[in-house]
Amino acid sequence: MAAPTPPPSIPLVRRGEPSDLDAIRTIQKASPEAAHWDVSEYLHHDLRVAVHGARIAGFLVTRTLAPGESEILNLAVAPESRRHGVARALLAAYLRHVTGEVYLEVRASNEAAQEFYKSLGFKAVTQRREYYSSPMETAIVMKFHSC
Ligand SMILES: CC(C)(COP(=O)(O)OP(=O)(O)OC[C@H]1O[C@@H](n2cnc3c(N)ncnc32)[C@H](O)[C@@H]1OP(=O)(O)O)[C@@H](O)C(=O)NCCC(=O)NCCS
Repeated sequence: MAAPTPPPSIPLVRRGEPSDLDAIRTIQKASPEAAHWDVSEYLHHDLRVAVHGARIAGFLVTRTLAPGESEILNLAVAPESRRHGVARALLAAYLRHVTGEVYLEVRASNEAAQEFYKSLGFKAVTQRREYYSSPMETAIVMKFHSC
């Protein structure tokens, strides 16, 4: 009988660096639901990457808006690395260092991301109609309170 497959290891989360941008660009291109910015912009915000082995498996971009108020600007995991706890590890590393309210917007059609954020304790607080373009769509605003 074949040996059982070991569970995937927990990814390491570290600060993103300029040398990570090619991998981040590739993940972003493969994630149409994510925000699509020029990835070099992410170095001007708080950028974290999750590393599995030697490979970048996902990234998280956040910024502080004011004391006690922060927002998630972008989050994406490589399609082949999804459902292995990569995004959860990225968010956990971030939430350990933030206090107060954390906000984000997500496309109304992006149920996977909404389920992901709900699984970590985020709650939908309001909607912004016609917030997104290409295609035009409502944004769900979600909030988390970090103590
Ligand atoms: C949303 C996204 C970041 C989740 O990343 P991930 O690494 O696969 O998520 P995790 O493995 O850490 O999932 C943690 C929990 O979130 C929930 N979850 C994650 N993906 C889900 C899905 N597709 N459907 C339902 N629940 C989901 C589950 O509760 C999951 O726990 P479980 O696997 O033990 O059931 C990923 O699907 C992605 O990159 N999507 C495209 C980009 C995107 O939508 N970004 C968000 C922009 S706001």
